[in-house]
Parts: sequence; C-alpha cells; structure tokens
Amino acid sequence: MVVKIGAQSLALLVALTFVNGQYTATYDPNNLPGTTEQGQTGTNACGTGNNQTSQCQNLYVNSAEDFCLWGPPDPNSSVGTVEEIVVAYCTTPGRGTRLFPAGTLISAHFLETPDYIQVTGTGQLTNINIAAGDSGGELDPHGADGFGNPHGGLVFSNVWSGKTGLGQQIHEWTNFMSDTEYCIRVCKDGPNAAAFCQHIYDIQGCHFNIPGDYDAGFDDCKGDNVIPMGLYPQPDGSTSTYVNGANPTPAPQPPAATSSCTPLTSSVIYNGAPAATGSASGSGSVTTAPSGTRSAGGGTTSSPRSTSSSSPNGAAGFHGAPLSLLLSLLAVTISIGFVF
Ligand SMILES: *[C@@H]1O[C@H](CO)[C@@H](O)[C@H](O)[C@H]1NC(C)=O
Ligand SMILES: *[C@@H]1O[C@H](CO)[C@@H](O)[C@H](O)[C@H]1NC(C)=O
Repeated sequence: MVVKIGAQSLALLVALTFVNGQYTATYDPNNLPGTTEQGQTGTNACGTGNNQTSQCQNLYVNSAEDFCLWGPPDPNSSVGTVEEIVVAYCTTPGRGTRLFPAGTLISAHFLETPDYIQVTGTGQLTNINIAAGDSGGELDPHGADGFGNPHGGLVFSNVWSGKTGLGQQIHEWTNFMSDTEYCIRVCKDGPNAAAFCQHIYDIQGCHFNIPGDYDAGFDDCKGDNVIPMGLYPQPDGSTSTYVNGANPTPAPQPPAATSSCTPLTSSVIYNGAPAATGSASGSGSVTTAPSGTRSAGGGTTSSPRSTSSSSPNGAAGFHGAPLSLLLSLLAVTISIGFVF
C-alpha cells in the first residue's frame, strides 16, 4: 500500500515534533547532567578520560575522523535486544566514551548536505560487542516508550556551530548498526529535521534509510540532500509515502551526487591499525559484507531483525498505522493549523 498525499500536508505532519522553533530540552555538551532520561543505564556526565567499560551515552558526529556510533555495553549482544542501553564508541579520545578498538572501522564516508550530516561504512563491529551474524537494529531519540534508544542518549555536532569544540546538541538522528555495516544520520535542527531523520523504517536498514557510500575508503564529502526516506515523488507532483509492511518494498533512493570529497590522510581513526581498504589485512577472520547484499538493521528478507516488531521506535500511531489513522492524523495536523 502506498499512500498518496500532497507534499505540503506531509511537511505539516513531519514538522509536529518541532514546535515553535524550540525543542523541549537542549543540553550544553560542556555542562551535562549525570542522566537526562528516566530508566537510563549509562551517563551523560562522562568526564575527559576514556576506557572500554565507560557507560557514556554521548555521541559526537563531526567528520570521518571524528565520530561515534552506538554499540552494546557487553560482548556478543544483538543490537535489537539492547537498544535501550547501548553506549558510545568513538574515534576521538578525551570525551569519556569508549573508543573503537584498532581495526574496527573498515570504511567511513562522512557527508555534509544542507540539512543533515551522515557517516556510512563497514566495520568489524563485533569489536564493539555486536554479535557475529546480527543483522542489526536501529537507534533513535524516539523509543516506543517515549524515550530514546538508548534511554538518555544525546547526540552532538559542531558542524553547524563553527566546526570547533563539542558543538551543540542535535535533536533528530537515526543510526543503524549490524555486525558488519553501519550508518548514522544527524539532522540539522529545524522544520526539515524530522523528515530527513525519519525513524519509522527501522527494519529497512542502512541502504533504504541512509543512501550513501558503503564502499572502501575514508573521506569527507559535501553533497545534496536526498529526498527523505520513504518518500517517492510522483509524475503528477504529489509524493507517495511508503508504509511499513507494504509489499513490495520500494527500491532505496539512490545516493545524492557528492562533491569536494577529501580522503582522510590521518590514521587517527584506525587507532594505530593499518588503513584497511575493503578488507582488513592480517586477519583471516574479518568478513566484510559485500556492498548491497546486506544492510545493517535489516535488509535481508530471509532474516528480519527478530525484535523489530516489538520495538516500533515510532511516532505514536504512525508506525504500521492503517491508512485511516494516518489520514486522520493528517486531518488533525491540518486542523491545528500548524504554521512555521
Ligand atoms: C554468542 O551468543 C550466542 C547465543 O546467545 C552463543 O550461541 C554464542 O556461542 C556466543 N558467542 C560467543 C563468541 O560468545
Ligand atoms: C571509565 O570512564 C567513565 C566515564 O568517563 C568513568 O566514569 C569511569 O570511572 C571510568 N572507569 C575506569 C575504570 O577508569
């Protein structure tokens, strides 16, 4: 089933989380409290050290050599079952997080567009406690219980605030992790953020949600926005919206054109390991997912993420919502007369 609604109505709908230009809470990365949400197992007051037992739940996404991903706190974990308690693994020391062990990141492609930043790539992500063979899960700030996955997880970037220091909190983000592939998108605060960081397609994986470069290499690129995940422009000017469960799943949107890509010359993100190009050298056990055959957080029809249906991560009433509910939501949205 594909629902056809006007692009304007859709914009009204997705803007609901951004009310009067303000988010409900904004934290200063230089002055964080111990915790920020109920039921939080880790901490946001992480100090300036580093260790591999840290429970820090602050993510920083600034460039291909300075970013973090969510990973399980304990070894051999399925992302879907620990999504409420994942912790931060980072390239960059000094922020109280865990670090990616040497050789974890096999590729990393940072992309900055007008409305979002993202990092896409592959890795030996069993190094950050993801069980071998785990097809993965999705993390976002809108858990089924109204809290984020992880509870209390905060994301910061300096990309829109001068590109130095810890930057500012960014409120909309989505991250897919499997044992071999990852993708994270962080959306510039504003009325477009919820659409570009839509989080309801949580079993569709990286390529559907975050089109980008998953091939070998490490670089920083600029590029255009891709139309938000799940939206398909029609010849008549309307926009079709993919609804979870619809069959067949439409093809992922192609990645946008990139420009001014700068390959990383520093080896800092490898934590001392030799730069791998596609497959890690010196280890017969590394298995790199061939691009396009498997996608973090789902992607294979034969092995959907087992917990996905129990963790909608969705805006209330939207995930898997029947058409009538979706349309009445739209009607409500429009009758509120939301303006921005
Ligand atoms: C990981 O956990 C699974 C079951 O949860 C178990 O069968 C497997 O042996 C474990 N692997 C390692 C390396 O501990
Ligand atoms: C690990 O790092 C966390 C966060 O900075 C800190 O609270 C904890 O005390 C550290 N643990 C050790 C054993 O150093």
